[in-house]
Amino acid sequence: MNDPIHIPVMANEVVHYLLENNGTKYLDCTLGAGGHTALLIEKANRSINVTGIDIDETAIDACRKRFKGSSKVRVEHGSYGNLEFLDRRIGLGDLDGIIADFGQSSDQLLSESVGMSYQQSAPLDMRYDRSAGMTAEEFLNSVGFDELKRLLKEIGQESNASQIARAIVKAQPLSTTDDLVKAVSSVSSPFKLNKVLSRVFMVVRVVVNDELGAIDRFLTYAPTLLKRGGRIVCISFDSNQDGRVKNAFRSLANPCICPPTLPVCLCNRIPTLKVITPRALQPTESEIESNKRSRSARLRVAEKFNPQPITSSR
Ligand SMILES: C[S@@+](CC[C@H](N)C(=O)[O-])C[C@H]1O[C@@H](n2cnc3c(N)ncnc32)[C@H](O)[C@@H]1O
Repeated sequence: MNDPIHIPVMANEVVHYLLENNGTKYLDCTLGAGGHTALLIEKANRSINVTGIDIDETAIDACRKRFKGSSKVRVEHGSYGNLEFLDRRIGLGDLDGIIADFGQSSDQLLSESVGMSYQQSAPLDMRYDRSAGMTAEEFLNSVGFDELKRLLKEIGQESNASQIARAIVKAQPLSTTDDLVKAVSSVSSPFKLNKVLSRVFMVVRVVVNDELGAIDRFLTYAPTLLKRGGRIVCISFDSNQDGRVKNAFRSLANPCICPPTLPVCLCNRIPTLKVITPRALQPTESEIESNKRSRSARLRVAEKFNPQPITSSR
């Protein structure tokens, strides 16, 4: 990677919510170009340490250079979908804060070798971790009509899923982003084409990288790494991601499964998180103006709860 072009999204909010608790030990689960990590280090009025992980080796190499010589930043290759393994391998626990900024960086989107953008001619790869897993080409050439239609509907909320899936399956074998653009364009209105293409490319990227599975595993394990009062900040860029964060935070804050007619809680499930942002925060207009990529960002914050068994009246 050359000089990073990625601008950290909702940086003021990330810094505010993570540093507010006067902590010292943080985890950046989506290091990317290192933007959020660098800001946390710069803005803290005390000495803090950040472990930064990313699944993309190119991003990791660039961050190793960026933070070379800094004793405050530890850079590790790994997936937020596999935090338990990473925790056992390098020890992550007792954290004051965690940041996860989901999706792709601008550097990945504009990379000529990865094929994540419909605006770039590139081989259909789309993997964040190019050493493992199925490429977009392998996926698109092996998927059947029914499965592709389902994925376009469920992940992309694409109303023309049927026609698009049929056009893609008919175009098999595909090998470049241009092949995919051509297939989708053949059945889409030119007026809506850009939106449709970005949805189709997003769906393929999400499937190839098992992004939603990784987010679910992250949301299960990450809260266990926080110390009391520790905060978790998640930035999502679509409703699949944000819905998962919202539901996970809510169910960890309100885990009781007793029928509402019961006067006291009998399930004894203990809240482990407190929701700090009842509604997702959005970027300010001036941020959207200066960084268009931020426009769909939704930020949610939760805090590790002081666990007390629920014994009294509900
Ligand atoms: C939006 S960028 C993060 C940008 C970063 N916050 C910054 O300010 O530079 C998202 C990053 O998440 C990484 N990523 C995607 N899936 C991942 C996973 N399962 N585990 C770890 N990192 C992942 C991508 O490689 C990408 O670098």
